[in-house]
Amino acid sequence: MPVTIIVGAQWGDEGKGKIVDLLSDEIDIVARYQGGANAGHTVVIGEKEYVLHLIPSGIFHRHVSCVIGNGVVIDPIALMDEIAMIKSFNIRIEGRLFISHNAHLIMPYHKLLDNIREQGANKIGTTGRGIGPAYIDKYMRTGIRVVDLLDRKVLADKLKSNIEEKNQLLSKVYGSAVLDVDKIISEYEEFDKKIDPYVTDTSVYLNTALKKKKNILAEGAQGALLDVDHGTYPFVTSSNPTSGGACTGLGIPPTAVKNIIGIVKAYSTRVGNGPFPTEYTDGIGERLRTVGHEFGSTTGRPRRCGWLDMVSLNYSLEINGVKEIALTKLDVLDDFDEIKICTGYKNNKRKLKSFPSDLQTLERVEPVYHSFKGWKEKISGAKKYRQLPKNARRYIEAIEKLSGVPVPIVSVGARRDQTILR
Ligand code: GDP
Ligand code: IMO
Ligand code: MG
Repeated sequence: MPVTIIVGAQWGDEGKGKIVDLLSDEIDIVARYQGGANAGHTVVIGEKEYVLHLIPSGIFHRHVSCVIGNGVVIDPIALMDEIAMIKSFNIRIEGRLFISHNAHLIMPYHKLLDNIREQGANKIGTTGRGIGPAYIDKYMRTGIRVVDLLDRKVLADKLKSNIEEKNQLLSKVYGSAVLDVDKIISEYEEFDKKIDPYVTDTSVYLNTALKKKKNILAEGAQGALLDVDHGTYPFVTSSNPTSGGACTGLGIPPTAVKNIIGIVKAYSTRVGNGPFPTEYTDGIGERLRTVGHEFGSTTGRPRRCGWLDMVSLNYSLEINGVKEIALTKLDVLDDFDEIKICTGYKNNKRKLKSFPSDLQTLERVEPVYHSFKGWKEKISGAKKYRQLPKNARRYIEAIEKLSGVPVPIVSVGARRDQTILR
């Protein structure tokens, strides 16, 4: 049963890219299961930093094969740019990248509609990558899949009917300029030539690998609190980053899953709109943003920051079935005199028992904090757990106690070698 799921346990940007790259050493296949180019997964090797949006973060290990699963929505422009970027570093990609024929494609009208909606009253603060509109079409059953690229007539027919409908929406509802059908058809026919060598039935590929006892990492994008079913709806993304999404997004059985690792940042961040109980809009928040370089890997937007929130985290760990935590960015807290963890929410002076699902309550809750003494020491050079200052160990052990989940991986810097395996 060799599948391990890597899931973001907060609002995304927990450091999934770093941990997937790190664990890929002993892995055969890394497979992305949802989201699209809204993700930005950073891998730092030596002095070089790479940001991946669609290609799985195992690509820098030459022995690893990478899968983009059926649950992902693929922007061919972003994908081609990324393939070119990887090739420019002399990393072979042919024969190592496998793209699901069932994955849906992001079209220019998806990006356009995403951005037009964001100019309206109900702003989500999306990445503008066309994610919501592409998943709308998938569930409306009008979406265009990778497999459709392979048949020119099917592609042209589907694009025509989609664009005709979208043009009505663009001109009549939004008063926007319309799209040129022929231009888009010829653009996507070009993508076909480029994508063709990578396309396969990735579910068959993964299930065959499972029979051969290969080790697979399922790489989630975003985070559980951005899950369309379980997150802070409507301020969420349009897919299922939670661990359950890995099986549907890859076409593998739940019985194949051996481990679920939750990536947890040592504090909280969120980019985009929506409730964030432990947010500090000044002081602590600004300091965490500056020290942690908390600016979006995809859009460059400043991330909202605050202390670790155990209430939302415990909810996330539970719905994901997280067995182990990889705690990241602990070094960002090096210089704080006092570090806090939110251990409960109060609503109208009453303590809440669980993570509220209605946004009005979540917007209103007052976090109850537990305070920890900082360690006031640089920890990025620590290689062993016992080399960490006592107060840093106390902080980690408090997280284990408050969550009931062990923390066998502690990340103390962006590089591969800045990691403590306990
Ligand atoms: P992802 O979307 O979950 O893969 O995370 P991002 O790549 O968007 O953001 C995480 C950022 O933190 C990246 O810039 C990483 O290089 C960086 N990072 C990851 N782990 C650590 C760590 O332990 N310490 C520090 N200082 N930076 C880290
Ligand atoms: P990674 O994989 C953090 C957020 C957006 C917005 C909401 C919806 O790097 O952790 P969308 O474009 O998906 O429709 O936007 O989700 N969001 C992310 N936040 N990390 C991400 O990905 C995100 N992908 C989307 O900011 O609030
Ligand atoms: Mg990111």
